[in-house]
Amino acid sequence: MDKPNKTAKSILVTGGAGYIGAHACKALAEAGYTPVTYDNFVYGHPTAVRWGPLERGDIGDRDQLEMVMKKYNPGAVMHFAAYAYVGESVTKPAKYYRNNVAGTLSLLESMNSCGIDKIIFSSTCATYGMPDQIPIDENHPQNPINPYGRSKLMIEWILQDFAAAYDLKFVSLRYFNAAGADPDAEIGENHDPETHLIPLVLDVALGGRHRLEIYGTDYDTPDGTCIRDYIHVSDLADAHLLALEYLNDGGQSNVFNLGNGNGFSVREVISTAMNVTGCDIPYLESKKRPGDPAVLIGSAEKIRDNLGWRAVHNSLEAIIRTAWRWHKK
Ligand SMILES: NC(=O)c1ccc[n+]([C@@H]2O[C@H](COP(=O)([O-])OP(=O)(O)OC[C@H]3O[C@@H](n4cnc5c(N)ncnc54)[C@H](O)[C@@H]3O)[C@@H](O)[C@H]2O)c1
Repeated sequence: MDKPNKTAKSILVTGGAGYIGAHACKALAEAGYTPVTYDNFVYGHPTAVRWGPLERGDIGDRDQLEMVMKKYNPGAVMHFAAYAYVGESVTKPAKYYRNNVAGTLSLLESMNSCGIDKIIFSSTCATYGMPDQIPIDENHPQNPINPYGRSKLMIEWILQDFAAAYDLKFVSLRYFNAAGADPDAEIGENHDPETHLIPLVLDVALGGRHRLEIYGTDYDTPDGTCIRDYIHVSDLADAHLLALEYLNDGGQSNVFNLGNGNGFSVREVISTAMNVTGCDIPYLESKKRPGDPAVLIGSAEKIRDNLGWRAVHNSLEAIIRTAWRWHKK
């Protein structure tokens, strides 16, 4: 067994072998922390764990979790581990409630019994459901329309209840669309199956698939296709560090959106990707999917004002360029 790190500079990163978790581990290591990845590899990649120790385990396994917590004595938890396929959550809701909700409960109970009192949680804009107004701020009503979004909202509620009952402080970060890759191209987005637009577009550019499917071209948007708010994964990772410092400095439990405050349509993503890659990107225009809002854009004002967060990679071109470098590797 490795020697425990008792400096409290360790941070337990559940889902640290996944897309966003691995980028957070890199940012943590660069800031002088030791990220301890805890992942069951249902979707993660061992090769993405490069900036700290790896502990294989499931968040539902309290014995394993508590063994790891005692071993490293982390000062906080960054909690990325979850299932995140919206469509699958509709057909297999139990899978989502068990992993996301019951799994998080097991994590929180383990933290409680090991005396770990800070957590940064990956929530999502899917907790808002269909938007009443754009941009969406943190006071927008939360009416999720699928089990995935509901599982994340339930966790937000559980965090509030744990914070009220026990000595727990949390920051819930409601991400919009995470995109892009590490600017050094050491890690990137590698979901299987992939459902996110930018990696799908780049896969078409590379010839990995014949064409892209555009779901809906008659939305009430300037070019008829859906508009989404893309946030670079490294900017997202930086926000986690700021949230950690905020809690370390005695900040109260809080909730922040993480988006860029601007949106791009599917056609804009395709044309920017064609410019960046120099490749043709054939597409097929298909019917709308049920439950896809025309526009989802988040207000990032609160996290800017409270944590001083700023997006570094805030152009669509910069986001796609970093993703393209990674995908070509
Ligand atoms: N990617 C996005 O655009 C986006 C947007 C909003 C919210 N989120 C949330 O951010 C988090 C990370 O997303 P991602 O895109 O990096 O996903 P990902 O699938 O790449 O990473 C999730 C990681 O968690 C691990 N994991 C899942 N269940 C586990 C369990 N029971 N025990 C241990 N490990 C487990 C997986 O193996 C994987 O490594 C998720 O909670 C997701 O809901 C993502």
